[in-house]
Amino acid sequence: MIALRGELGSGKTSFARAFIRARLAESIEVPSPTFTLVEIYGGESDLPIWHFDLYRLSAAAEARELGFEEALGEGISLIEWPERLGPLLPAERLDLTFGAGPTPGSRTVAAAASPSWHNRIEGLRGV
Ligand SMILES: Nc1ncnc2c1ncn2[C@@H]1O[C@H](COP(=O)(O)OP(=O)(O)OP(=O)(O)O)[C@@H](O)[C@H]1O
Ligand SMILES: [Mg+2]
Repeated sequence: MIALRGELGSGKTSFARAFIRARLAESIEVPSPTFTLVEIYGGESDLPIWHFDLYRLSAAAEARELGFEEALGEGISLIEWPERLGPLLPAERLDLTFGAGPTPGSRTVAAAASPSWHNRIEGLRGV
């Protein structure tokens, strides 16, 4: 799973939209799951991508009702506001933290990888 962190408007949804389009198809509509809390893309022949926005989650346990455990088991999870998961937040994850960049309208992103993600990224470097 990839945790998308950062203040309101820092670019989490924009990143998720670009990620989903790059993996599946440029023409896909990717609305912000602000009110639906989750949108699912792909499936069938593609690994499904679950895009969560947990800002409005009222309790961590509510994530289960959204299919959070199923998402972790079957596909790629992109999660905005992952801190709302509290103790349900998986330890194995890639954290991407978005912030304001040095010039107006620019953004920065910092990545932090758990051990398995670190190995995965090192593996890619070796190719
Ligand atoms: N890499 C970027 N460079 C410049 N502007 C960006 C970038 N990413 C996003 N923006 C702009 O920032 C605004 C907010 O982006 P976005 O909706 O992705 O934020 P968010 O982090 O998902 O916010 P929220 O916390 O409300 O879900 C949009 O107007 C978008 O065009
Ligand atoms: Mg968003």
